[in-house]
Amino acid sequence: MKYIFVSILILFIGFGASAQENLNLALTPPMGWNSWNLVEKEVDEQILKEMADALVMTGMKDAGFQYILVDDYWVGGRDSQNNLFPDPNRFPNGIKVLADYIHSKGLKLGLYSDAGSLTCAGVTGSYGFETIDAQTFAEWGIDYLKYDYCNAPEDVETAFIRYKKMGDALNATGRPIIFAICEWGHRKPWLWAKAAGGHLWRTGGDSRDVWQSNNQTYTGIMEIFDAQEGLAQYSGPNGWNDPDLLMVGLYGQGKSSSLNGRYKGCTAIEYRTHFALWCMLAAPLIVNLDIRSMDTETSGLLLNKELIAIDQDKLGKQGYTLFRKGNLQVLKKELEGDDLAICVFNRSSEVVPFDFKVQKDLKVWFPLQIRDISNNKDWKNGKRVFGELKPHECVVYRLHKLEQNKLTNSKK
Ligand code: GLA
Repeated sequence: MKYIFVSILILFIGFGASAQENLNLALTPPMGWNSWNLVEKEVDEQILKEMADALVMTGMKDAGFQYILVDDYWVGGRDSQNNLFPDPNRFPNGIKVLADYIHSKGLKLGLYSDAGSLTCAGVTGSYGFETIDAQTFAEWGIDYLKYDYCNAPEDVETAFIRYKKMGDALNATGRPIIFAICEWGHRKPWLWAKAAGGHLWRTGGDSRDVWQSNNQTYTGIMEIFDAQEGLAQYSGPNGWNDPDLLMVGLYGQGKSSSLNGRYKGCTAIEYRTHFALWCMLAAPLIVNLDIRSMDTETSGLLLNKELIAIDQDKLGKQGYTLFRKGNLQVLKKELEGDDLAICVFNRSSEVVPFDFKVQKDLKVWFPLQIRDISNNKDWKNGKRVFGELKPHECVVYRLHKLEQNKLTNSKK
């Protein structure tokens, strides 16, 4: 019933007031670095500049990671004219100077606020000041706003109205600003967030830096991943399901993501799988790790351009589970030009062999070339994929459709 009411609201006010400026800002899922899990309260100008430099120096910027996203705790308060200002100790030069620096590196800057009077961390939020805050963000040169929902009413109608208020205010500034809706999937935002001006919306709670949390309050990577089942149809260009930040390479470093040290992080294989699964889901790829000191294994993973191309594919289709067989889960993602990505994932803590026929098991009937993009290997046989997977490991194949006349060359 409550969603029927929101649908009516969307019909009446949803598409009326929005300007067109922000419509095509997220044709592919946004990619970048977010401050939350690594630094939380210690976010400041210096670290953000250093992360921007590191994005450029490591090649991550060239690989597509372009947003530096400031999460909670940057706000100092509101001045006598109700303008937001940043914490003066951590941002002594203001946000505009920071934005100029980030832009000079060819990158973009995001900020965080909340649809309540206070953010989740308890600093000043935007409720009641949407127009003035949106203008401030635009004047500073902000390119992305993550908008949280702490300290706000539970019901979906109010959530829609509050998000739309900020969505419209951002549109009205005339500056292209991505609007990231963060209400943790509690009110099925995939049904209404786009009409509120959102370019992406969180589909679940905060991910912790643990493979599986087995805890009803805290979600691990597997719990988040499993919660995406059934949501593929709602995601696409300019409106993405967001399964939350990437824990890749954190190794237990974040405060909340590690529950103050209780979780020690994941293994390198688990981080590889986490990244590959997020690419299969066409998820926003927002890392949290310390890019300044990442090891070569992690940088090799984050710079796997073929894997990133699966995520960033222009068709914008979210992958889905094709089938499960014992502990193996096989996902399929449709790509541009009739190509396909297939991911074979071992959910168990044992080594598991696999052998799948392209036609019988994967249900692909056209002739193709297969490339293992997890391991950078061309697969000579276009009819079958096989191998064995370590615990929690996955492999992603790109299946490239061949024209009929190339069929003979592809035969082994
Ligand atoms: C919420 C969000 C997180 C993070 C924190 C900041 O929990 O879901 O992603 O932004 O708030 O306080």
